[in-house]
Amino acid sequence: MSTPLLELRGLSGGYQPIQIFQNVDLTVEQGASIGFFGPNGHGKTTLMKTISGVLEPWRGDVIFEGQRLNRAKARGSRRWRNFNYDVVTPRRMDPKTVARAGLIHVPQGNLLFPEMTVEETLSIAPLVAAERHQSSAHESALHEKVGALFPRLQERRNHKNRFLSGGERQMVSIAAGLLADPKLLILDEPTLGLSPKLRLELCEAIKTIRAAGVPLIVIDQDIGFLTELIDVLYLFDHGSISRRLERAEIPSHDQLMAMLFGEAV
Ligand SMILES: Nc1ncnc2c1ncn2[C@@H]1O[C@H](COP(=O)(O)OP(=O)(O)OP(=O)(O)O)[C@@H](O)[C@H]1O
Ligand SMILES: [Mg+2]
Repeated sequence: MSTPLLELRGLSGGYQPIQIFQNVDLTVEQGASIGFFGPNGHGKTTLMKTISGVLEPWRGDVIFEGQRLNRAKARGSRRWRNFNYDVVTPRRMDPKTVARAGLIHVPQGNLLFPEMTVEETLSIAPLVAAERHQSSAHESALHEKVGALFPRLQERRNHKNRFLSGGERQMVSIAAGLLADPKLLILDEPTLGLSPKLRLELCEAIKTIRAAGVPLIVIDQDIGFLTELIDVLYLFDHGSISRRLERAEIPSHDQLMAMLFGEAV
């Protein structure tokens, strides 16, 4: 069997001193996409932030294309205890290394720099992938694809991010993710809080991204949308995976609610 794209082995983490998720084991096979579905506040975003190295894993491993992205050693030597750990302890997991490996995280919420223009924002992303392929032809082909996917951004390219609508900002985030040439793209609630029209536009764009062969990890509350994108769905509650469902086994939204909460809601 080929090496999986991503493996999580016994991954635990949270915000010191509160543990948010524990013992997450997961495999994303090459070419596959997976979805996460679960109640609010149960740790989906925290797990994604740990996979991409924004947060330090507490225990366990993140393995991408057979390479462990986190360093094994937990802490520095005791004699450094009196110093500020954030300064003297090397990070166990570095988000730059993760992104350069091709694991790209489009985070939940509106996290663009407000004073940067669309064009400036999108000019940074390709730098992440620059080490993996030096050809400028590849980069301009990628720019063209992303331009075709989000024509709206072309019109807005000189606008500052803070003047964009929520949907347009989400498009900028996803476009930036694509320009980093992902081997695996994490989309955390990409359509949350959008107007129906923009939501539809964005859903179509994400389906096109999937159809172009980009493997995804998608978190979304719309099970119909998820089912169109993914091969495997994970139900996630109380900080761990409670169920794994192949696409053909994914039931209706109400039945999923019953699985999660014990009764139909
Ligand atoms: N920066 C933070 N510092 C401390 N606690 C946090 C922080 N961010 C989130 N939390 C807490 O961690 C828990 C899990 O939050 P998280 O955002 O991972 O959940 P989620 O499943 O993604 O929820 P949602 O579906 O609403 O996006 C919550 O109790 C939340 O209050
Ligand atoms: Mg979340």
